[in-house]
Amino acid sequence: MASATDIKKVSILGKDAIHCGFHLVPYIVRTVLDTLPSSTYALITDTTVANLHLPAFEAEFAANLAQRTTGAAPRFISYVVTPGETSKSREGKAEIEDFLLLNKCTRDTVILALGGGVIGDLAGFVAATFMRGVRFVQIPTTLLAMVDSSVGGKTAIDTPHGKNLIGAFWQPEYIFIDAAFLETLPAREFSNGMAEVVKTAAIWNEDDFASLESRSAEIFAAIQTPSTNYAGRSLATRSTAQDLLLSVISGSIHVKAHIVTIDERETGLRNLVNFGHTIGHAIEAVVTPTILHGECVSIGMILEAEIARQMGVLGQVGIGRLTRCLKAYNLPVSMSDPKITSLPAAKALTVDNLLDVMRVDKKNSGPQKKIVILSRIGATYEQKATDVADAVIAKVLSEAVKVVAGIPRNSPIHMATPGSKSLSNRALLLAALGKGTCRLRNLLHSDDTQVMMNALGDLKGAKFAWEDGGETLVVEGGAGSLSVPEKGKEVYLGNAGTAARFLTTVCTVVQSSQPAQERTVITGNARMKQRPIGPLVTALRANGSSIDYLESQGCLPLSVEPNGLKGGHIQLAASVSSQYVSSILLCAPYALKEVRLELIGGQVISQPYIDMTIAMMRTFGVEVVRERDPATGALLDVYTIPRTCYVNPSTYNIESDASSATYPLAIAAITGTECTIANIGFASLQGDARFAKEVLEPMGCEVIQTETETTVRGPPVGTLKALGLVDMEPMTDAFLTASVLAAVAIGTPKPGRQLVDGPANATRIIGIANQRVKECNRIQAMMDQLAKFGVETRELDDGLEIYGKPISELNEGSSIHCYDDHRVAMAFSVLGSIIKDTIIEEKRCVEKTWPNWWDDLVNKIGLDVEGVELETVESASPSGDNIAKNSASVVLIGMRGSGKSYIGKLAASALSWTFVDADPYFEVKHKIGVREFVQQNGWPAFRAAESDILKELLKQHPTKRVISLGGGIVETPDARTLLKDYAKKAPVVYIVREIDEVVKYLGEETARPAYGEPVVDVFKRREPWFTECSSHEFINYTGVLGGPSAGGIRKDVARFFGHVTGYKSNLAPNVTNGQRSYFLSLTYPDITPALPHIEELTAGVDAIELRVDLLRSPVDEQKFGQYIPPSAYVVEQIAALRQKTSLPIVYTIRTISQGGNFPDHFDAQAFELLHSALRIGVEYIDVEISWPSKHIQELLSLKGHSQVIASWHDWSGNLKWSGATVDEKYRSAAAIGDIVKIVGRANSLEDNFTLHNFVQAKSIPGSKPLLAINMGTEGQISRILNRTLSPVTHPLLPNKAAPGQLSFAQIQTALHLIGQLPPLRFFLFGNPIAHSMSPTLHNTAFNLLGLPHQYELLETENVGEEIKAAIASSDFGGASVTIPYKLDVIPLLDSLSPAAEVIGAVNTIIPVRTGDRAHTLRGDNTDWVGITESIRSRLPKNVDVPETALVIGAGGTARAAIFALQNLGAKKIYLFNRTSCKAEELVAAFPDANLEVISKLGSWSSQAPSVIVSTVPASATSFDPSRKDVLYLPSEIFANADGGVVVDMAYKPAETPLLQLAGKASKWAAVRGVDVLLEQGFVQFELWTGRRCPRSAVSDAVLKAYST
Ligand SMILES: NC(=O)c1ccc[n+]([C@@H]2O[C@H](COP(=O)([O-])OP(=O)(O)OC[C@H]3O[C@@H](n4cnc5c(N)ncnc54)[C@H](O)[C@@H]3O)[C@@H](O)[C@H]2O)c1
Ligand SMILES: [Zn+2]
Repeated sequence: MASATDIKKVSILGKDAIHCGFHLVPYIVRTVLDTLPSSTYALITDTTVANLHLPAFEAEFAANLAQRTTGAAPRFISYVVTPGETSKSREGKAEIEDFLLLNKCTRDTVILALGGGVIGDLAGFVAATFMRGVRFVQIPTTLLAMVDSSVGGKTAIDTPHGKNLIGAFWQPEYIFIDAAFLETLPAREFSNGMAEVVKTAAIWNEDDFASLESRSAEIFAAIQTPSTNYAGRSLATRSTAQDLLLSVISGSIHVKAHIVTIDERETGLRNLVNFGHTIGHAIEAVVTPTILHGECVSIGMILEAEIARQMGVLGQVGIGRLTRCLKAYNLPVSMSDPKITSLPAAKALTVDNLLDVMRVDKKNSGPQKKIVILSRIGATYEQKATDVADAVIAKVLSEAVKVVAGIPRNSPIHMATPGSKSLSNRALLLAALGKGTCRLRNLLHSDDTQVMMNALGDLKGAKFAWEDGGETLVVEGGAGSLSVPEKGKEVYLGNAGTAARFLTTVCTVVQSSQPAQERTVITGNARMKQRPIGPLVTALRANGSSIDYLESQGCLPLSVEPNGLKGGHIQLAASVSSQYVSSILLCAPYALKEVRLELIGGQVISQPYIDMTIAMMRTFGVEVVRERDPATGALLDVYTIPRTCYVNPSTYNIESDASSATYPLAIAAITGTECTIANIGFASLQGDARFAKEVLEPMGCEVIQTETETTVRGPPVGTLKALGLVDMEPMTDAFLTASVLAAVAIGTPKPGRQLVDGPANATRIIGIANQRVKECNRIQAMMDQLAKFGVETRELDDGLEIYGKPISELNEGSSIHCYDDHRVAMAFSVLGSIIKDTIIEEKRCVEKTWPNWWDDLVNKIGLDVEGVELETVESASPSGDNIAKNSASVVLIGMRGSGKSYIGKLAASALSWTFVDADPYFEVKHKIGVREFVQQNGWPAFRAAESDILKELLKQHPTKRVISLGGGIVETPDARTLLKDYAKKAPVVYIVREIDEVVKYLGEETARPAYGEPVVDVFKRREPWFTECSSHEFINYTGVLGGPSAGGIRKDVARFFGHVTGYKSNLAPNVTNGQRSYFLSLTYPDITPALPHIEELTAGVDAIELRVDLLRSPVDEQKFGQYIPPSAYVVEQIAALRQKTSLPIVYTIRTISQGGNFPDHFDAQAFELLHSALRIGVEYIDVEISWPSKHIQELLSLKGHSQVIASWHDWSGNLKWSGATVDEKYRSAAAIGDIVKIVGRANSLEDNFTLHNFVQAKSIPGSKPLLAINMGTEGQISRILNRTLSPVTHPLLPNKAAPGQLSFAQIQTALHLIGQLPPLRFFLFGNPIAHSMSPTLHNTAFNLLGLPHQYELLETENVGEEIKAAIASSDFGGASVTIPYKLDVIPLLDSLSPAAEVIGAVNTIIPVRTGDRAHTLRGDNTDWVGITESIRSRLPKNVDVPETALVIGAGGTARAAIFALQNLGAKKIYLFNRTSCKAEELVAAFPDANLEVISKLGSWSSQAPSVIVSTVPASATSFDPSRKDVLYLPSEIFANADGGVVVDMAYKPAETPLLQLAGKASKWAAVRGVDVLLEQGFVQFELWTGRRCPRSAVSDAVLKAYST
C-alpha cells in the first residue's frame, strides 16, 4: 500500500521539502519518524481539525511506534487550541509553551502543525523560539495554508496593535500538502484560499490563470465529492478532477516556493506575492473577522489592478478577466458587495481610514506606499512592489469622482472606444466557427465572451490565446467541428444570456460517430435556469434535433443529442428575441442541409440586430439571402443560408460602441477641440453612429465622417447652437449626451430647425419614450440632474425639451446622482468638462460598457479626474434634491388636534429651522380656505389637492423645515407612498396624543372642516396609517401628573427633534469623549413613583437605564417571573420619564438567560419593543448579541442617530476574561454595537485584574467604548474602575438592579481613595466677593456627588501673581470670574469659546487637560446660558419665539443678554440706555440682532416686548415718577397683553422695583438675579466636571444662604 502513495515534490530553498498528494497520513508519519528522529513529536492543532483528523495521526503514530523495538521509544503528544485567529496571540503561544515545558520537551522535539494558517503561524513561531528553535513540520489543512501560509517560513502572532506584528522567519523541515483534507473544509474557506491561488497566477503565470479562469466548476467538483477508499492516494485511483486540483495547488506552491527561494527575507521580489494585499489588508482591518482574508484580498486585487489601469500600465481586459475569475470562485470583487455593505463596520471603509491603515504596511519605506502593479495577466510592472502616491490610491478607493473642468490636453484626440458588446459576441462565435486564425481586436471582454470561450473550449470547437498583453484575442477556429465535452462535463454558462442563446444552436451542430455517445449538457446558474429559451428549442426540435429539458420546461439546463443540425426549412417565432434568429443564422452554414429560415409569429423585433448578424457573416465569407415577395418586391422574413464554412479574416477590428463614442465627441463639441474616433464611420452598423452628423453638426460642429472614422471639431466654447426639433428614434441611447450639450446651447438653431412653438434656445428631443424604461427613467433623470445646474427642462410624451443657458450661468459644484446608469454618469462628465466642480457620485456605474472611462478621460482625452469622498452614504443626493447631512426637513403627521402646529413650531425654534404649515400653504395656493374648498369641491378633490401639496412641499423644502401636514393626508394611498419613501431618508414624526384629549380639544375648535363621522372612528381608521407612514413618534403627553409644564415640553421637543434629525443628538458626551460615564438603573415595575425624585436619583449620572423586562403594567402588577410588558405601557412610562428629565435613556430588555425577566426565545416580541423604542427616539438600545442576527441587522438599519449597546452577560461565573470565548463575544459585539458591554461574575479579586487587562488590551485608538464589569460583591472593584456607562444604583431605590452595584457617590469616593480621582481646586476671582453664593453652590454640588474638590474665594487687588499661580497649578479645576475682572483675565487664557468671543467677556475659566499634569486655559461665558435657560423655561405656552424683547443697560451683562435673546430667536430687540452712544456701540457689535435703540421706555415702534432683561443696578431704578435721580420704569413696559418673562440681573434685593412692577401686570413671569446666577452656575459646574449639577438640592442650599 505504501508504495502506491504518489507524491509530487516541489523544491524550496534548494530542498525538496514540499510533498503533495492525497490521503498522506501514513506517508507523513513514516517520513517524519524516519527522517526526523526525536524523543518527542508534539502535534498542535485546533478543535475543529482535531475532531476531523487527529485520530488518524494518533492511530498511525501508535501503530508505527509499537513496531519499534530498539532504544527508548519516542512519544507522540498533542495539544488542541480553540479555532480562530484569537488563538494566534501571546497568550496562545504561552499556553503551548507551557504545555511543552510541562511535558519536559527538549531541544530535539519536532513540532507538527496540523491545521490552517492560524495553527501554522502559531506553532511555527513556538518552534522558532522554543529552546532557541526546534524542528517543525507544516501539515496545512486549509487551502490558504497549503498555498500560502505554510510556504515561506513566515511565522507570527497578533497583538491588539495589529496582526502578525511579532514573529520570526523559521523554515519547516517539511510541508505536507494532503489535498484530501480539503474535502472537509467549508466551501467559503476553500474560496478564501482560491483568492491566493488566483493572485499567484495573476502575477506569475498566464497559463495557470487561464486554466483557473475556465475550469472553476471542475475545481469545485474535486472537493465537493468526498473520495472513498483513499481514492487519489495512488495515480491509478486519482480522478481527473483530483489531478486538476493537485496541479492547481502544486502550481501555485511552485511559484511561491520559487519566489521565496530567490528572496527569502522579502527584500523585493517576494513582495510580489502581496499583490492585492496592500489595499486588501486595509479593508481586512476594518471588516475582520466577518469577512475573510482572501475575500478582502480579492477586492484588493481588483482595486490594485485599477490603480495599474489608472497608471496606464494594465488594460481593461486584464481587469475584466481578473474580476470574472474571482467571481467564479464566489469571491467579492468590490467594497459595495452586499456581504460587506450589510456590515455595520462598512461605514468605516472611508478613503481616509483605509489610507491610514496602509500607512503602517510593512512593505512601505517611510511614508511612501507600495503596491504591486500588474502589467498584464501573468506579469507585473516591476519585479517588486511599486511606489504609488496617496492621491492615486485615494482616487481608486473613492466612490465618487470630480471631473476637473478644462480644455482637453490631448486635442486633437485620436482614440477608439471599447468594442461594441453585440459585435464582440458575434465576432467571437464567428471566428471560433471559422477556418483559420483570426485576431480579434477591440473585443469587449464580458461575461458573455468569457463564457463562450470556455464553452467553445469544452466543445473543442476552437483555441484561444491572448496577445499584446491581452489586447488582442487570437482565435484558432475549428471550422465548425465540435465534439461532446468529456465525460461528466457540463457546459456551464453562468448567467450569460447572449451566450446561452447563441450556444444552444451551437450544441446541435455537434456530431458524433459513436452511437452510444453521451449527450451535450448546457446549464447555468439559478437565475439562468429561469430565463426563457423555449421558442428556439421548439424550432430546433421541429427541425429534428433531439433536445431535452433537464429541469423546467422552456429553460436551461438542456441535454442535446450530438446528431448535427438537420437544416432545411426551419420556422422560428421571432417576436420575443432577435438573438434566437442570430443564433440559427450563425450556425446555419454547418447544417446538414441548406437552411431556409422562416420567421413566424408576428412582428419581428430588433431587425437591426438581425441585419448586423448577416453583415458580419458576410465578412466571414457567408452570404445570407433574404427573400422578397415576387409580386411586390417587399422584403420577407425568410432567409437562405448556404452550406459552407466561414473563412476567418486574419484580423477583425471590432467596431467601437457607437453610443460610447458620443461622449468624447461631445467633449470636443463643448470644449471647442477636436476628436477622432477610430472604428466608427458612416458604414457603421450601429444607429448611434449618426450622432455626429445628425446632432453635433447642426449644433455647429465640423464633422468629417469616413467609412470607418468620425472626426468632430467643436465651435468656440459657448457657441453651440440649440437644435430646435430633433427626432432621436434611431439613436435613443445618445439622447443623454445630446441633452447635456443642449443645456449650454444658446445659439439660434440652423434655419428650418427652429421650433415654431418654443423659444430659440430650446432643443426638443423626441422619439425616445423607450428611455423611460432603461436602467432608470432616463428622461426624468436628465431633468432632475440638469435642474441641479439651474437648467430648465420640460417633459414631453416621448421626450423632453431643454432650454440652453450661457455656460457662466450654470451652477457650479453640482453633485450628480447616477441611478446606477452608466450613460447618466458619462453624459454628465461631458458637462463636467466645462462646469467647475461637477461631482459624479457613483463612478463605478460606467463599468457596464466603459469600465476605464475615467482613466481614458485622463490618459486619452487629457482631462483630469479627482477622487471625491462623499461625506456619508446618506449624503449622496437622492434623485432630484440635495439633502445635506442632518438637515433634511422633518415632516409631522397625526390627528387634527394632536398638537402638530404647536410641537412643530417649538421644534423649528429649537432647531433654528423654519416651520411650514400645510394648511395656510393650501389656502395661499388655492386662494380659498380649506373648509370652503371641501364644501365646494368635496373630499376627494381636497385629498388629491392635498397630496399634490405634499409633493410640492417636499420638493421645495428639502432641508431645514419642520413641515406639518393635515390630519387626513394619510387617507390617500399616493400620499402614503410619498410619506413612506420620505421616512426612509428623513424623519416623519407621528404626533401622538390620547384620543380623548383630541376629542376635547376639537370640541373647542372650528377653523377646519368638520368630520362627517365621529372623531374616534376616524382615528381608528387612520392610526395604522400614521404608524406605517412614520419613522418616529413623538408622544404629546398630557396624561399622568396632570400634564407637563410648558418648559418641560419645550425641553423635550428640543431633545427629541435634535436627536432624531441628528442636528444635536442627545447622546451622553462623556461616553463619546472617553470620560467616565454612568447610568442609573431604574428597576421599578412602574417608574412613576420615582419621578418626583428623579433629579436626586440621577445626580451625577450620564443616562438612565429603563429595565423594560422589569416593568409590570398595573393589571399585571402581581405577576412575577417571565413577563412581556405591553408596548403601549412601556411607551407611556418613557413619555412620563421624558417630562422629568432630558438625560438619555438606555432601553434594556434583559432575557432570563442573561439575568433578566424577559422570556428567552421571544425574539420577535423583544424586537418589536426595541423598534418602538427607536421610534420614540430612545438614545441607547441594549441589544443582546445572542439574539438572531437577522433581527439585529434589521434593527441596526433603522437605528438612525440612536446607539446600540451590544451586550453579553455570563452569569455562570465561568467566563474567563483571558480566554478565547470572551474575545469572540467582544468581536461579535463590536461588530454590532456602538458600545460593547460584557458582564461576567467575579469569584475572586483576581478576576477583576484579568478583566482590567482585557479592557486595557482592547483600548486601542479607534476601538469602541467598552463597558466591562464583574457582578457580585467580589466584582465591585470592576464597577469602580469601569469607564463607560457604569451601572449605578441610588440609596433611594427599592432594590439594586444587580448584586454588587454601587451608587455614583460611592464610586467617586472609591476612585478618590485609590488615587484615580485627585482633588481639584476651584476659585472665584473678583472684588468684592465676600458675599458670593458661588462657594455654596459648587461645594454643595461636590459634596452631593461625592467629588473631593473644593471651591474657594480668591479676592485680589488686581489680576496678578496670585491668580496666575492659581490657574497654573496642576490641581487647578476651574474658576468663576466676576466683576471687575471679566475682561482683565482674557490675556491669561489660551482660547475663548465662540460665545465669550462675541460677548467679549469671560466669567468661566476651564482647564483643558493636555497631558498628565499639563493643561491649557479656555475662557467661556455662561451668563448668557443662565439668561437663556431662565427665560426659555418660563416663556408662555403660546410664544415659541419672542417677537420683540427689551434690554435695559449697555454694559457687559447687556452684551450677554443680547446674545441670549438672539439665541432664543427674538426677532427684534429694543435697547435702552441712559447714554445712547454706548447703546449704539452695541448695535455695531451685534449687526445681526436687529437692535433698535430707544430713548424712552414704554413706547414701542412695533409690538410691545414679551421678554425684558434689565442689567442696571436695582438701586438706580424706580417706578415712582417723582424720583428724579433714577431711571423711571413706567407700567407700559409690560404692555404686552399675552404676558412674558422679565429678568432682573440685579442680584440684591430679591424684589427689585422692576420685578415688583411686573407682579402687578398679568401673565408675567419674574426671574431674579439669583435665579440666573443658579442657572449659569449649573452650566459652569457641568463645564468643569462633565457632570450635571444636582439642581434642586443646590438651589435649596443657595437660596437658603441667600435669604439669610
Ligand atoms: N505565514 C504566512 O505567510 C501567512 C500567509 C497568509 C496567511 N497567514 C495567516 O493564516 C491565518 C489564516 O489561515 P486560515 O485561513 O487557514 O485560517 P484558520 O487556520 O483559522 O482556518 C480556518 C478555519 O477552518 C478550519 N479548518 C482548517 N482545516 C480544516 C479542514 N480541513 N476541514 C474543516 N475545517 C478546517 C479551522 O478550524 C478554522 O476554523 C491568518 O492568521 C493569517 O495571518 C499567514
Ligand atoms: Zn494573503
